[in-house]
Amino acid sequence: MNVAGLPQKITVQSFASMKGCAAVAALTAYDFPMAKLLDEAGIPFLLVGDSLGMVVLGYPDTTHVTMEDILHHTRAVARAKPNALVGADLPYRSYDTPEQALANARRLIEAGAEFVKAEGGREILPQVEAILAAGIPFCAHLGMLPQHVVEEGGKYRIKGRDEAGRAKLIDDALALEAAGAFACVLELVTPPVTQEITERCRKMLTIGIGSGPGCDGQILVTPDLIGAFPWFTPKFVTPKAQTGETIRGAVREWKEALR
Ligand code: KIV
Repeated sequence: MNVAGLPQKITVQSFASMKGCAAVAALTAYDFPMAKLLDEAGIPFLLVGDSLGMVVLGYPDTTHVTMEDILHHTRAVARAKPNALVGADLPYRSYDTPEQALANARRLIEAGAEFVKAEGGREILPQVEAILAAGIPFCAHLGMLPQHVVEEGGKYRIKGRDEAGRAKLIDDALALEAAGAFACVLELVTPPVTQEITERCRKMLTIGIGSGPGCDGQILVTPDLIGAFPWFTPKFVTPKAQTGETIRGAVREWKEALR
């Protein structure tokens, strides 16, 4: 709250200062009404994630999502003018080189994102450095990387189970923090490795999804949380509402009342 008792705009700096303070809540948003509702509920971090492809656009995985898709939905979320910090995903193959990564990150910022996120560790460090050197805040994404699931055989596997996996995750997280990433999503990482990254990264906030409680914050795909994509719910999510069922019921009731 500011001095007038109004909710304050969350900036990258104020978000980063939440490191270690509390369990930070983060959610995905893809359109204007959901961004407004989540903001009114006090969520400080909204991500226009490329999960959009699966839970809104009907694709089997995130590799089909284009820059145009993310731009369109980022503009819709930004029109809600949320107090929450708004970020957008760089979609599959949109950051193959530092030049391409920077050009596309700039487009997302022009569309209303306040930070960008991309999947990967040290292998995308030149891209991350190019984005950060241009003054664009960057959120990393380690662990299970949905954009790589097709090339890994189509299975969403837990990461960090063996020593080589643990070491790679820790080294990637430390390198991304040193480069200047303000936050890092840890997806399907074993809880001990999640905890170790959270403790060893003194500045970079960790935001977990299916990675146990040892993170600075937790993120969920909003339709999973509210039962709005009832055909599939990840094992680690307990939906807090069944909006899919509510919609079916409301529509049936209206249809019956017409008779
Ligand atoms: O695409 C997405 O929604 C994400 C979240 C699951 C973190 O990357």
